[in-house]
Amino acid sequence: MERTLVLVKPDAMERNLGGAILDRLERAGLKIVALRTLKVDEALARNHYAVHVEKPFFKDLLAYITSYPIIAAVFEGPNAVEVARKTMGATNPEKADKGTIRKDFGLDLQRNAVHGSDSPANAEIEINLYFTKKDFISR
Ligand code: RTP
Ligand code: MG
Repeated sequence: MERTLVLVKPDAMERNLGGAILDRLERAGLKIVALRTLKVDEALARNHYAVHVEKPFFKDLLAYITSYPIIAAVFEGPNAVEVARKTMGATNPEKADKGTIRKDFGLDLQRNAVHGSDSPANAEIEINLYFTKKDFISR
């Protein structure tokens, strides 16, 4: 069993697509095991996107991700990281496969509706940025 962090990003939240996006991931066989809404502050944004600190788009990325409330969700299932990223599609919505979240809901390269962890190791790190142990209900 694997876990991944999903964010429904500001552009999707502004258009009331939170439920539709979580639904796509549930239909892909993943289970919600923790969930919250929040407005990301600059410190959290810097932590979350630390790997992109040297990129030319870093400043824009911080402004965007802190611009409006988001949903943070932990999804669980076999190969959750890969399943979530396949369901989301390519980073650039224009290049994403038909039927993916980003193809159907993304606006452009930055406003691409959703985030998914890119490896199980990064999922663990990212989950700990948004959730603590007591946020997970034992079944
Ligand atoms: P994410 O982390 O959000 O799931 O997206 P990703 O792995 O597919 O893409 P990544 O390379 O990690 O980029 C993180 C986010 O930065 C924005 N971006 N902007 N303006 C640009 O050239 C550019 N490139 C990336 C996107 O919002 C991307 O999801
Ligand atoms: Mg990424």
